[in-house]
This record gives sequence, structure tokens and C-alpha cells, in this order.
Amino acid sequence: MLRISALRLLGRRGASRVSLSEDFSLRHYSSGPLGVRGDTHDSRAYFTTPIFYVNAAPHIGHLYSALLADALCRHHRLRVPSDAATGFSTGTDEHGLKIQQAAAAAGLAPSELCDRVSAQFQQLFREADVSSTDFIRTTEARHRIAVQHFWRVLKARGLLYKGLYEGWYCASDECFLPEAKVTRQPGPSGDLCPVSLESGHPVSWTKEENYIFRLSQFREPLQQWLRGDPQAITPEPFHHTVLQWLEEELPDLSVSRRSSHLHWGIPVPGDDSQTIYVWLDALVNYLTVIGYPNAEFQSWWPTTSHIIGKDILKFHAIYWPALLLGAGMSPPHRIYVHSHWTVCGQKMSKSLGNVVDPRTCLDRYTVDGFRYFLLRQGVPSWDCDYYDEKVVKLLDSELADALGGLLNRCTANRINPSGIYPAFCTACFPSEPGSAGPSGRAQAEDYALVSAVATLPEQVADHYDNFQIYKALEAVSSCVRQTNGFVQRHAPWKLNWESPVDAPWLGTVLHVALECLRVFGTLLQPVTPSLADRLLSRLGVSSTERSLGELHFLSRFYGHPSPFEGRRLGPETGILFPRLDQSRSWLVKAHKT
Ligand code: MSP
Repeated sequence: MLRISALRLLGRRGASRVSLSEDFSLRHYSSGPLGVRGDTHDSRAYFTTPIFYVNAAPHIGHLYSALLADALCRHHRLRVPSDAATGFSTGTDEHGLKIQQAAAAAGLAPSELCDRVSAQFQQLFREADVSSTDFIRTTEARHRIAVQHFWRVLKARGLLYKGLYEGWYCASDECFLPEAKVTRQPGPSGDLCPVSLESGHPVSWTKEENYIFRLSQFREPLQQWLRGDPQAITPEPFHHTVLQWLEEELPDLSVSRRSSHLHWGIPVPGDDSQTIYVWLDALVNYLTVIGYPNAEFQSWWPTTSHIIGKDILKFHAIYWPALLLGAGMSPPHRIYVHSHWTVCGQKMSKSLGNVVDPRTCLDRYTVDGFRYFLLRQGVPSWDCDYYDEKVVKLLDSELADALGGLLNRCTANRINPSGIYPAFCTACFPSEPGSAGPSGRAQAEDYALVSAVATLPEQVADHYDNFQIYKALEAVSSCVRQTNGFVQRHAPWKLNWESPVDAPWLGTVLHVALECLRVFGTLLQPVTPSLADRLLSRLGVSSTERSLGELHFLSRFYGHPSPFEGRRLGPETGILFPRLDQSRSWLVKAHKT
């Protein structure tokens, strides 16, 4: 596992072992979930994506990481609408051997490569409506200051010493590997070459004197942290995996490289002959963005949640919390872990030529459509497979037919000629099913619908807390289906506005369906922001009425006045989400090949 088998330590050892009861207390750590429905308790939250390597253009896996963080962050904003309550950073990881080598291979100066690819990430995230409040580049001065300060703190606390590192290094993964994690594979010339067992990337033998971090002292504090907060790493299987890793001894960690070998990075303070290890550099970005080392950073730490892919779990769940504890700080609030996208059953890779370009996808399926697809189909606990037909099928059935159809059915001129939110008739749909008088028209399934939609925001919030955004979307989609069933059952197109018997019930059916749509629109904002905006605008919902605290679903049913009854609907804006299977020529081509 994490053992660097060939590590030989020349430096002076023997700083006393660490326990949580002394210096590295988790006293600032709060483990409770964020308050639901707009309460201000525990209200601040900062979300981070991993920072992305700039050795190659972004692909859909990177976009997925960013969208998960964006959806969590936007959902938090729905709970706590104040701008000051939520922060969200993303950025690019620009130092290290991997970037140094990629620049050399492209015949570019490293800074040129960084500028070029970082701009691609920024553009992609802008286009994909990723609502980050900061974009960090590790080549920025503010970051160098933060990393060097962090280094000095570790040094002052006796946690860094000089030692000889001898072992395997994988530049692609920027990590050290024990012999057990290295295998041999035929290289381009047919000779057997050493590669990482996990990633298949080439490794090389390294022997040099470096600065070493006393990681081995942190095994017990890390175990205590994880045992004391079972949700620290979510979903649970990843939490379990880390605890299992911690069953084994934790070797100390080399945290610098010789500058003659790695010049593209941040120099070790006071020792220009060494460059800081890129993972230490990269992880500190999470502090840089909240203002570290200035005291202001404390208002966001440790209420910060990291969203990461499973391949970088060890760095975030072992190295990072250990470094933080070493610097006298708490581990992050949450580490949310997701799995990977494969393409037609294969790992996505440049060498296989199957990398899916996210910008083409945003173009083809629209920004909202592709965001919805990735977040609806991506399941954090296991890998998901990507292929075009799957996107079309999902978007046509859930966004175009079910949601778009429902909106159209309830707002179309022929069914709602006055263009208003009709009144809800309590005699037609009394809150007690058994109390219906002669005008009672609601059936048992209608009560089931009301109760499903009434509890939907809470359910969705729970799914967000558990990092199961796909389940939140599944729950919304199931309620959309139920609402379509409700409309179908009562066939408002067969009811007559002119009839004194039909009219109150017709208004009630439309009122209930519009109220359901208002809930769906509100809850879809984190995933499909512009589609949700169009939907809510069509319903006449103002921008101050779109938070969870303002939802008040079907208030007339619950005996309260409704601010929507009698309100004019917003202007007609056309089809909510056009079907893809008829409109896309590229799809016809894809079917034929
Ligand atoms: N630079 C490091 C992260 C440093 S964070 C302090 C890094 N960069 S990366 O560009 O390789 O990966 C960034 C994110 O993209 C990771 O969360 C990774 O898991 C994710 N993905 C990369 N390929 C992916 C898929 N095929 N599918 C889903 N996510 C994937 O690691």
C-alpha cells in the first residue's frame, strides 16, 4: 500500500509521536450535516474541485468533477441564499515533473503550456455554467506565498527532516510507488518496462536526498478522525477503504525533489537546491483560495468540502489531513469521492483515442442537457459508461417529454387561456381525504402525489448531503412522472372553464400541477440552472422566490394563503427542452456507422 519500501532515512528521527489529545486536536471540527431549508445554523460552506493538470485538454471526467462541486455549491446557495455563505473554487495544477515533461515534449516553455491549457479549463467551465467564485492557478504569487508559509510551519513544528529517498517515481501520477505496486509491460521497443500496477503509467527509479515529512506519526490521529466522523469521507465505501489503508504502517513521505531534476515548481524556503513536491504544492491550493496565511482563512476552515475522483483519494484522505494536522489545523469538513467515466466500456485515454470532448457535448446536448446527463447518470460509488445514444434517450424522455410536456400541458393557451395561476379549490381537494363533501374530486393517488412532492425538497437535501445527486434527480424525475399521471388521470382538456361544476376542479388540477412544477424548477436549479430559470420564469416565480426557504408548496392545501393564486404566468418562451433524436443529424450518422 502506501509504504515506500526503499525509503532509507538519513535524517535525525525521533520527534515524539503525535496524538489527537495534544496539539492536533479536532476541536474546531463540526460533523453535523448542513442545515436544510434555509436555516442559518452551520450556514457557511466552501466547496472545492481538484485542480486540474494542464498537460492535456479537459475531458468529460474533469467536467464531471467540476459539475458535482457546482451542484453541491448551488444547492447550498438554495439553502442559504446569502452570497457570503458559500464559496467555491476550482483551478489548475501547473507545477511538477509531469507538466515540465509535457511542455518539453510540446516544445513549449512550461509557462506557455500552462497559460494555454489553463485558459481551456477556464473557458470550458464558463461555458458549462460552473459557478466558481475563484479560479486558482498554482503558478500565482498568492499561492507561492501560501505554500512557502505552510512549509515553514511544518518545519518549525519539527515535522520535516532531510533523508535519502530511493525508489520508484511515476511522473504521470506524480507519486512514489513501492515495489509491490510496480509491474513490467512491453514498451514501444518491445522491451519490458516498469509501470505502475494501478495506472499503467511508466515509472522510473529515483535516488536523491529530499526533505521528508513525518507522515508515520499521523496514522493514529487519522484513524481517530475517521472513526469519530463516519461521514468525513463520503460515500461510505471510500471511508472504509481509507481506514483499511490505515491498518498498515504509514511510511514517511518525501516532499521535495532536487531542483536540478525538477525546476518547475516552488523552491523550498531557504534551500533553492530543492523544489517542493507537487502534491504538497497542489493540496495547499485549498488554503490559498480562502486567504491563507492571513487570518481571514479561518472563517472558511474547516467548513470546506473537497470533491475529488477516486484516483486521488490517498492524497486527499491521508496526506492532506496529515499535513493539516501537522500544521496545527483540522482536517477538511468532508471529502466527497466520485468514480470515473469510461467510454464504451474502456478507460478514457489519449493513447486509445477515445477521449470525449466536453465542448462538443455541450454543443450537441445543450449546457443544461449535458449537465443533467452527467449528474443524473454519474454514480459516485462506481464507474459509469458513456455513449451518445444513452444521452439522447435520457434527455428526450426526462427533460423533453416528461418535464417539458408537463409544463406545456399546464400552460398552453388552449388549456389555460387566461394565462394565470388558477385558484385552488379546497372543497374539491380537501386536506383530509375523508372529509370531502359533494364537490370533492381528489383521489387517493392525488394525495400520494401531494405528499411525495411535499417531502421532495427534504429528500433531495438528504441526497445532496450523502453526495448522491443522481438519487436527488431520480426522485425529482419520479415525481415528474407522478405529476404527469395526475394530469392524465384528470384530463383537464376534457373539462370546461364555462361549467360551474368543472371550473373549480379544472383550476385546482392546474394549480396542483403548476405547484409541482414550481418545486421541480426550484430543485433543478443546481443541475440545470438555465432550464430551471426558464421554467420558473414561465410560472411567474420571481428571483426572490426561488430558494428552499421560500418554497411553501401548495400552501392553500395546508390552510395558508398562496402568493401565486391569480398571478399572471410569465411570457411564453417556447419549448422547454427540444427532443434530440429528431433534430440532430450527427446522431443519424452515429446510428449508421
Ligand atoms: N492535479 C491533480 C489534482 C490535485 S488536487 C489538489 C489531478 N488532476 S487531474 O487533472 O488528473 O484530475 C482531476 C480530476 O479529474 C480528478 O478528480 C480525477 O478523478 C478526475 N478525472 C480524471 N479522469 C476522470 C474520468 N475518466 N472520469 C471522472 N473523473 C475523472 O489529479
